[in-house]
Parts: sequence; structure tokens; C-alpha cells
Amino acid sequence: MGKHFCFLLYFAHVGIQTIMLGVVAVSSTISLRGPRGFSLPFIHRDSTHLQRHHPYNLDLMISTDMRGPLMPTEKNSLFFVNVSIGEPPLPQLLVIDTGSDLSWVQCIPCSGCHEAVHPTYNPTKSSSFTSISCDSESCEKMRLISWIPCESWDGKCLYDAEYEDGAGSRGDLAYEKFTFTTSDDGIIELPRAIFGCGRHVNEPLWQSSGMLGLGYSMRSMLFQSNSSRFSYCLGNISDPTYQYNKLIIGDGAILQGDSIPLSSDKSDNYYYIRADGINVGEKHIEINEQLDFMLDSGTTLIHLMKDPLDALKKEVRGLMEGLLAEHHVEGFLCYRGDMRRDLTGFPTITLSLSGGANLQLDVEGAFWYPGNYNNRQVFCLAFAEAKNNRNVIGVIAQQYYNIGFDLENWNVSLQRIDCELFED
Ligand SMILES: *[C@@H]1O[C@H](CO)[C@@H](O)[C@H](O)[C@H]1NC(C)=O
Ligand SMILES: *[C@@H]1O[C@H](CO)[C@@H](O)[C@H](O)[C@H]1NC(C)=O
Ligand SMILES: *[C@@H]1O[C@H](CO)[C@@H](O)[C@H](O)[C@H]1NC(C)=O
Ligand SMILES: *[C@@H]1O[C@H](CO)[C@@H](O)[C@H](O)[C@H]1NC(C)=O
Repeated sequence: MGKHFCFLLYFAHVGIQTIMLGVVAVSSTISLRGPRGFSLPFIHRDSTHLQRHHPYNLDLMISTDMRGPLMPTEKNSLFFVNVSIGEPPLPQLLVIDTGSDLSWVQCIPCSGCHEAVHPTYNPTKSSSFTSISCDSESCEKMRLISWIPCESWDGKCLYDAEYEDGAGSRGDLAYEKFTFTTSDDGIIELPRAIFGCGRHVNEPLWQSSGMLGLGYSMRSMLFQSNSSRFSYCLGNISDPTYQYNKLIIGDGAILQGDSIPLSSDKSDNYYYIRADGINVGEKHIEINEQLDFMLDSGTTLIHLMKDPLDALKKEVRGLMEGLLAEHHVEGFLCYRGDMRRDLTGFPTITLSLSGGANLQLDVEGAFWYPGNYNNRQVFCLAFAEAKNNRNVIGVIAQQYYNIGFDLENWNVSLQRIDCELFED
């Protein structure tokens, strides 16, 4: 990492899930390694800069909405949205990420960039690309760490986005046109959205060209589109043919179902909900205290602190005893077998949330096949140990839900539903 960067650091989430897979055969392109620890504080906890420029103001809401179909990705177990950038507009698949706020795309020239579904964006071929200089007000506002002097690299405003699993990108901040399609097949353009032009990418996001940050800060696409609500509906993450996964940003966001207050402070950049219990079927798992979970569409698994995780594993182990052979994978509880066949009738795992709602995890929400989709002889409980005491609800657990974020009232709505029902 350069020492002269205008820093924007994100240790927000886990991005692409990479776990130690033990002897599970996986595709050779997936890196195998354990969770990494960080000694740096989480930047979004220290959000004084954000409060000063606090974005949300009702008057600023746009009156229509941006929406796009979401596609599940097989390798990542994450969801993409198809957004076009630049002029002429170049389609790019971006991971939707409520666990980070800066959006970025792979940008030519680039080191570590990979081939995605769409060609890599080249700013010199876009007439709407405008560089942000290091000494500009925009650069100043987007900086999170003021103790690093904003020296320049070609006078550019540099950013560095890192995620908890070591993935991330570095490059320069710029303005660019982002084009979203709307509900009535029209388009909405954000003519001057600030984004990260990713010149160095580590840990490719497979197929995708970058991230669409939906956290709660001025860097987020929410702020940049003046939207105070958004929703996404996720279906079966293992089914690429399912057409109804959808992201809606703006007034058209679907806010229905159970209402859950966000438990984090409004100065937090992300979205947390509180759970006061975990059940496996009728069996209550002791968790001693309430747990805050970050709702993160950019993380695959559920992350849970050690004690409740151990208690949960113990309960699951008890239920599996004598049925399937355990398969050792460091940090995970795995079994040899076919998840869908062998777990028929397995009790639903439920998180009881504040406000009286439940997040129900059936077999597909609570277990997963790590690594390669072609190798499905081992499946694991989709719970990993929380890093830095941060509990996270990743997308595996959000399947078959519509989740609506109402940031003005600071609550979310959760509805278990087949997204197809939202089609007109
Ligand atoms: C993304 O959208 C563009 C047009 O808006 C389309 O040409 C392209 O096929 C889409 N990509 C995918 C993977 O659906
Ligand atoms: C958001 O609001 C600001 C201030 O009113 C305005 O300048 C800007 O054009 C708006 N952006 C969008 C995308 O509507
Ligand atoms: C999800 O998709 C996978 C792969 O297409 C399929 O095997 C599975 O049965 C689906 N699950 C449900 C609940 O439909
Ligand atoms: C959110 O809070 C507002 C104001 O308290 C309330 O009217 C609304 O029903 C809540 N909605 C959801 C979806 O949580």
C-alpha cells in the first residue's frame, strides 16, 4: 500500500468468502486460507467525518426509482446487479454490497484485474469520466483518514478499499455516469456519481467488475441518488435461471412484512438488527445476551460469535449424530453427504429478532456447499466464527426474503417471499 494515498479504508465486511476447505476438493482457482485478523480499528466506527456531512434529507429524495435484476453468482455466492457506466454506457456486473459504501469498478490500466462477464471499463474511452484531484473538496470530503496527508499521485484522489477477507481494490476516485434501468424499462442516470476507478484489484470478484456500495454514508450510491430507501429480493442463490431477484433503490422500494428497528446508531455506516434468541426447531440455544447482526449483502455466510456458535454447532452435531459422517474443515462444521437429500426434515434454524420478527433459515439458508459447485460431496453449516466480534447475516441467510431498508425511519422490513410475486 502506498504511503501517500488519500485513504478510504474499508474493513467493512467479508466480501468474497474464502475459507479453509481442508481436504474438500475445490476448483484450483479459489484461494484457500483462513480468516485474517486485523489490528486496525474499523473505520466506520469512527464516523465523525460522516456525521458532519450527513447525507439524508427528505427534500432530496428522487421521485422515481432505479432497479435492476440481480443475478446470483455461482462461485462467489453473492448477487450482481447490471449497471452501465460511462458514455457510451458500458454494462458492468457489480456485487451489491450493503456492507461497504464506495462503489468501484475495474479500470484500465489495471493490475490484478480479471476478465469479467463484460469488458473492462476504460476511462479514456468514456466521455463522461472526470478525474477528481487530490486537492479538491470532493476528495477532502471522501477521505476518511485525515491523519494521512493527501499527497498526490499524478494529482489524483486515491482510495483504498479493503474488505475483511483481504479482497479489495485501490485506485483513484472520479466522477462517472452510472445508468440504471427503472421499473418501466426506462433508465435513470446519475450523471456525476463518485466511484473508485480500480487500478489494482486483489482477490477477483469472479465474473463481476466491482462493487455497488449501499452502505449508509455519503459515498454510497444511496446518497448519490438522494434515496432514503431501497430493497432487494433474493431467491435461490444456487439457481442462476431464477429471474426475479431484484434491487430497487428509491421510492419504489418494497417495504412490507415484519418491521425491525435498526439497532445501530445512525452514525454507523451499516445496518444492524438485533437478535435475542437462536432456535434449532423448538430447541432454544442460549446466547446470554442480545446479539447485533450486520445485514450484509456482500458477505456469503452467517458470522456468529464463538460462544453462541459453539452452542449451535453442538446442537446441530447432536441432531446429525449417527446420520452422517462429519468431515473435518477447520473452523466449520461439515458433513459428507448431499445437503438437499440428506437434510430433508432438518429443523428450521430461527433467529428471533427484536420487534418480534424471525429470520428463518431452512436447510438452504443454514447450510452450504463450500468451494466448487461441481463437487458436492461435502456440505457445511453456513456459520463462520465472527471476526472482531461482528455478527453478520450474509446472503445465504437472506435467500427467499425481501429486505426493505427505510433509512428515514431507520428500520428494515423483512418478508419471506417468492420474489416472483412482486412481478406485475
Ligand atoms: C447487462 O445489460 C446490458 C444492456 O443494458 C445487456 O446488453 C447485457 O447483456 C446485460 N448483461 C447481463 C449479464 O445480463
Ligand atoms: C440530489 O440532490 C442534489 C441537491 O438537491 C442535487 O443537486 C442532485 O442533482 C440530486 N441528485 C439526483 C441524482 O437526483
Ligand atoms: C435451488 O436451486 C438448486 C439448483 O438449481 C436446486 O437444486 C434446489 O432444489 C433449489 N432450491 C429450492 C428450494 O428450490
Ligand atoms: C418504520 O418506522 C416507521 C415510523 O416509526 C413506521 O411507520 C413504519 O411502519 C416502519 N416500517 C417498517 C417497514 O419497518
